[in-house]
Amino acid sequence: MAYAELSLLEQLATNSSPYHDPLQRLNWETLDTKAYWLPPTAISLFGTREYDELAETTRIRLSQYEFTGFIQAGLWLEAIFVERLSRNLKHTQSAQELAYYLHEIREESGHSLMFLKLMEKGGLRLPGVWRNRPRTADFLGRHAPINTTLFWLAVTIGEEVPDKLNRYIRTHGNDSVDPLIRQMCTLHVIDEARHIAHARNALEQSLARTSAWHKKLLTPVVNLLIRQFVTTFYLPQTDVYELSGLNPGRQWREIARHNPARREFIQACLNPSLNLLRGHGFAVKDPAL
Ligand SMILES: [Fe+2]
Ligand SMILES: [Fe+2]
Repeated sequence: MAYAELSLLEQLATNSSPYHDPLQRLNWETLDTKAYWLPPTAISLFGTREYDELAETTRIRLSQYEFTGFIQAGLWLEAIFVERLSRNLKHTQSAQELAYYLHEIREESGHSLMFLKLMEKGGLRLPGVWRNRPRTADFLGRHAPINTTLFWLAVTIGEEVPDKLNRYIRTHGNDSVDPLIRQMCTLHVIDEARHIAHARNALEQSLARTSAWHKKLLTPVVNLLIRQFVTTFYLPQTDVYELSGLNPGRQWREIARHNPARREFIQACLNPSLNLLRGHGFAVKDPAL
């Protein structure tokens, strides 16, 4: 492993200490179940006539269920990360690499435990954490050969897509979102910044050995992965609407899917990631729901 790579791993591991356990750090007693859990502008129906007609209590409930759906998808994705990182431990080639991966496993475990705690404290739950997950993303996440370009593309896209929503909640939720939820997002974003720095670096190393035709071959997979992750994290499932009192859920989900404001929101969130991939030579399409 190159010296620059080792020193980045060392730097990232140093920044992971001391470990901040979200279960201990957050004051769970302050959770407000009457407050918004997403800024209204981050709700999937925001900007539609139908949203304007909803009662305030319904909007708040919808924001809470949408956030719950978002973190539930996070449980699925983080389980894949922990699974892959753990299986990779025995292939690490230096103490620095091993330490970095152990930090990442501990941090992802902390995030997932924090999500479960929120569900317990808030009393909001959606059926089936492992259900309706996007097949290609799930399969590649679990089985793409480790340390290949395809693997690092899947990791980078998987880390970046949900991170952008956490960042939005953190920066735009000042006066609307329950402070505990914002704090959750802040803790998450801080850890993810390190994971993303590592994934981006690993992707770059791998791309240095990837030919132009191989990139062309990978482009449809990249587009598919983006679409699947975007749908998973930005388009709530039907039960989110139904539990918020909006029936039938399928109809409300279609309103969100065709909501131009939602498309613009997603585009703005994901532009930095799309530009990164385009800069690496992938002809990436704008995400659609
Ligand atoms: Fe995480
Ligand atoms: Fe992560």
